[in-house]
Amino acid sequence: MRPYIICHMLSSVDGKIDGAALAAVTGKGEYEATGAKLKGDAWICGRTTMQQHFAEAAPFVSVTNTPAGPQPVFVARRAKSYAISVDTLGKLRWVGGDLDGDHLICVVSEQAPEDYLSMLREQGISYIVSGQSSVDLPRAVRQLGERFGIRTLLLEGGGHINGAFLQAGLVDELSLLVVPGIDGRHDIPAVFDGVSASHKRALPLKLKAVEQRGRGALWIRYKVVRSKTPKRKPSHKTH
Ligand SMILES: NC(=O)c1ccc[n+]([C@@H]2O[C@H](COP(=O)([O-])OP(=O)(O)OC[C@H]3O[C@@H](n4cnc5c(N)ncnc54)[C@H](OP(=O)(O)O)[C@@H]3O)[C@@H](O)[C@H]2O)c1
Repeated sequence: MRPYIICHMLSSVDGKIDGAALAAVTGKGEYEATGAKLKGDAWICGRTTMQQHFAEAAPFVSVTNTPAGPQPVFVARRAKSYAISVDTLGKLRWVGGDLDGDHLICVVSEQAPEDYLSMLREQGISYIVSGQSSVDLPRAVRQLGERFGIRTLLLEGGGHINGAFLQAGLVDELSLLVVPGIDGRHDIPAVFDGVSASHKRALPLKLKAVEQRGRGALWIRYKVVRSKTPKRKPSHKTH
């Protein structure tokens, strides 16, 4: 059973997500306050976001360079809340097993080196190895539900990991805090990025709630509309 996944993001009116640029037009603590209302028991971010905001500056350097291959899930401990990184090659280095008071789980692929996983075990950090050359997201989120008991997962960016979750059909809801500002720069990640060019139609959403917040921000919640598989007509046997 996989968790219910809500993508919670802060964005300019043109859909850009550079938090530093948006700070000037965002009410203090608004992103966190709206996120807390979603009652997630875990949050998950891509490697770039984790590197920028939470991990050690220098990346992990493997001594053995031996890919770990398939590995069982390592549960260092169960916790009330979790912080999760998606880091294909095991590059992120951590100070310890907790991030902002949440127990850390690293999701990596089989390409992550053996000594990276040893380092995580020594630091009391849980991990999931999922996928041969890239992270198998559907399998990883299933294991987050089954092995850690996570029921509501907040997907908190950046744009590329959001796009990958979206493309894998793993986003159930979008929680967007739109602040009154325009970014306009071409190469700044958007709320969802990197979805393959063959997806030529916008994914339909159903409005769930809108709330005006401080400093003219709008907190918009949408449910993802799943396309229904057409029901087969019952076959009538002829006698
Ligand atoms: N406004 C907001 O609410 C908000 C929230 C979060 C972040 N941000 C901002 O977003 C920016 C970063 O966004 P980003 O889109 O560049 O990076 P990102 O989504 O944070 O991370 C992307 C990276 O995640 C790793 N990854 C692992 N599995 C993946 C998969 N299946 N699909 C895609 N990526 C996968 C890849 O690195 P490897 O190949 O090395 O694993 C990939 O390059 C930062 O500026 C950050 O401050 C804003």
